[in-house]
Amino acid sequence: MKMAELKGRPVSLVEMGPRDGLQNEPAQLSASIKAGLVDRLAASGLRRIETGSFVSPKWIPQMADSAEVFAGITRVPGVRYSALTPNMQGFERAVQAGADEVAVFAAASELFSQKNINCSIRDSIQRFTEVCAAANAAGIPVRGYVSCAMGCPYQGEVPANDVAMAVAELMALGCYEVSVGDTIGTGTPQHVHEVLSRCLQEARADQLAMHFHDTYGQALANLLAGLQLGLATIDASVAGLGGCPYAQGASGNVATEDVLFMLHGLGMDTGVDLPRLIDTSRWICELLQRPNQSRVSLAGLPVARGGA
Ligand code: HMG
Ligand code: MG
Repeated sequence: MKMAELKGRPVSLVEMGPRDGLQNEPAQLSASIKAGLVDRLAASGLRRIETGSFVSPKWIPQMADSAEVFAGITRVPGVRYSALTPNMQGFERAVQAGADEVAVFAAASELFSQKNINCSIRDSIQRFTEVCAAANAAGIPVRGYVSCAMGCPYQGEVPANDVAMAVAELMALGCYEVSVGDTIGTGTPQHVHEVLSRCLQEARADQLAMHFHDTYGQALANLLAGLQLGLATIDASVAGLGGCPYAQGASGNVATEDVLFMLHGLGMDTGVDLPRLIDTSRWICELLQRPNQSRVSLAGLPVARGGA
């Protein structure tokens, strides 16, 4: 698709800050501040917010209070509040907390699967079969993730075919959407084009999402490559918060504000109020006492885009 053809097309943003962001921040925030973050993100117009995760608290202590976070949010009609669930225990906790949607997370790299969820890819699919069956029976939508789609911190290169096979397996389990993760942010546009093109042989563009960490500053260019293939769902994290605890050196997701600045520049329709999101971004960075990773929030909006 030519760049000009993107104009006017809708894009769905999936906000990762409260989960992928905060899971790897050294500062521990209270559940009420986390809930406040979720509420502010919803107020800026974001309609899909990954609110927490129901994983082992020994593995990810930052997410141990996700049930309290769910209890503390003021639900906005039309907003989907989702959570990561690695197994049935996580699924049951997520349902009890009132998650609207759950997500299972697999990897395209065997070594990463072992480090992240302590089992092989095959065993993880077996666990997810149970979670997906229970979720489908309860009418709860399930999203899938495939980590290490553009490279693995342990294995190095990851064949596009392995990514596509993981996508196909998750779709077969009943995931309505699979998010393709560049966990360590090493992808570049041509590589992303190749991997996503292969994934498009297994799933439609509207069933795939892009989840790009921005370690090497390639995420926006990579997103554009995916948009031109027809993908229209983007995961991003306010202020570029976070990283992956099992991928040393990986920085946070691409910042939501930076993605919005690009999408609005392309004339795409996001429904998100960027100035309001910038306020939230600055607020959370102050609480975390960490530098803002969003270039847009650091710079502020230019006059031509509504800045002062
Ligand atoms: P395990 O140790 O193999 O699990 O961990 P287990 O079944 O043997 O259980 C061991 C203990 O954990 C038991 O407690 C269980 O009750 C407890 P004990 O008897 O020792 O007291 N346990 C749980 N507790 C609460 N909730 C649960 C749960 N499950 C077991 N759901 C497990 C296996 C999958 C649980 C563990 O490896 C884990 O929690 N991993 C999660 C790691 C994680 O959250 N990583 C970050 C998210 S993924 C990511 O960031 C990538 C993504 O953003 C995409 C991308 O960027 O690529 C999605
Ligand atoms: Mg991630």
